[in-house]
Amino acid sequence: MERTFAMIKPDATERGIAGKIISRIEEEGFRILGMRLINMTKAQAEGFYAVHRERPFFGDLTSFMSSGPTVVLALEREEAIRHWRDVMGATNPEEAAAGSIRKEFGESIERNSTHGSDAPDTAAFELGYWFPGVEIP
Ligand code: RTP
Ligand code: MG
Repeated sequence: MERTFAMIKPDATERGIAGKIISRIEEEGFRILGMRLINMTKAQAEGFYAVHRERPFFGDLTSFMSSGPTVVLALEREEAIRHWRDVMGATNPEEAAAGSIRKEFGESIERNSTHGSDAPDTAAFELGYWFPGVEIP
C-alpha cells in the first residue's frame, strides 16, 4: 500500500464539482484517510509550492490557490502516486488523455481542477504539510 496527497483546486470547488471528483477517487479504489476543506493563505500556497518559486507561473499559481476553497486529501491505494497521476491526466487539460479528470473538468493549464504528488518524497512532504501526524496515524 502507498499513500499520496491530492487536492481539489479552487476552480473545481467554485463550480460545485468537488463531489464528482471525490466519487471518482472512491471509484478508483482509493481509501480516503484524511479530507478537509481549507481556504489557504497566499503564504501557505507559497510554502506548499516552494519547489516552483523560480518558475514564471509561481505568482499566478499561488494567487489562484488562495482565491477560494480547496479540498485536501490523504489517499491510500496500491501504487497510489502513479495511479492518481494517471487518473488526473496531463497538467494541460488540452493534452490530457480522454477519461482523465483534467480532460473532463480542467479549464486551463493553471485551473486544472486537481493536484497530485509526483514522487514518494514529495508525497511525504505534502501529506505532512496539510495533515499533522495526529490526524493520520
Ligand atoms: P500538480 O503539481 O498541481 O499536481 O500539477 P503537475 O505536477 O501536473 O504540474 P506542475 O508542473 O507541478 O505545476 C503545478 C501547477 O502549476 C500550475 N501551472 N501553471 N501557467 C503555466 O504554465 C503553469 N504550469 C503549471 C498548474 O496548476 C499546475 O498543476
Ligand atoms: Mg506537480
